[in-house]
Amino acid sequence: MKRKFTIFSLTAILFMSMFTVPVVATSSEMLTMQQQQQIVNVAHRGASGHAPENTLSAFDKALEMKADYIEIDVQMTQDGELVVIHDTTVDRTTNGTGAVGDYTLNEIQQLDAGSWFGEEFAGERIPTFEEIIDRYRGKIGILIELKSPEQYPGVEEKVAEALIKRNMHKPNNSKIILQSFNHESVQRSKELLPNIPHGVLAGLTWADITDEQLAQFATYADYFNPNMNIVTDELVDRVHFAGMKIFPYTVRAQEQADNLFKLGVDGIVTDFPEYVYKHPVKK
Ligand code: G3P
Ligand code: CA
Repeated sequence: MKRKFTIFSLTAILFMSMFTVPVVATSSEMLTMQQQQQIVNVAHRGASGHAPENTLSAFDKALEMKADYIEIDVQMTQDGELVVIHDTTVDRTTNGTGAVGDYTLNEIQQLDAGSWFGEEFAGERIPTFEEIIDRYRGKIGILIELKSPEQYPGVEEKVAEALIKRNMHKPNNSKIILQSFNHESVQRSKELLPNIPHGVLAGLTWADITDEQLAQFATYADYFNPNMNIVTDELVDRVHFAGMKIFPYTVRAQEQADNLFKLGVDGIVTDFPEYVYKHPVKK
């Protein structure tokens, strides 16, 4: 009986050790891999280091690279249609000129939004918001930024309407987050979509944010998403203490991602999803 017990114990220990190696491993590389697997990988304007930002090519690439979210910038055309483009003019990322809000949807979709990045992307179009949510919902999370909403009265309502129409406004129905640098717009959107997580974006001017300001944001926001250059481990702790998560932007180098891992952020917004998944076998 004693001998039987010993053999059983040895077998059990050997069996269990097969599964406990990652837990007891202390090498910094193993810990880094564990941390990576918990960090949300957000492809900024799609995988925009590899394909023209805010186009189907960039979003498809992010999906292919197994990012957790695509980040998109939403604006409105002259005829009130929601389109996905970062700048408030079309000059930098298309072959056109002028303000997004001066184009009708039909006009803006005639523009080439790919050639500036590479001839192989010639013919890419500026997508509509509805096209993006229809194409990607359920396949990848969508981090929706209301870009310069002060220029587009009613944009919060239009975004909410599109999501509600598709039943995407319910808790846990889709991986959707809304965010903006315009915090009044975030508040308005949160009132329209109370079950969707919202985030406040914070540029460099928020480096000295107080606990009171964080607590105020937390009354309507679930995320505090700052410029990565103001992130410290102390700020990460204070954001967490306020009850929010933190997805800093915008990583464009491996060492920037490595630094943010160490600071304990919840997610990383990057043009290069591979920097967040250092090891391509992740997932
Ligand atoms: O998600 C954060 C990031 O998109 C904010 O900056 O200028 O790239 O829209 P920007
Ligand atoms: Ca953005």
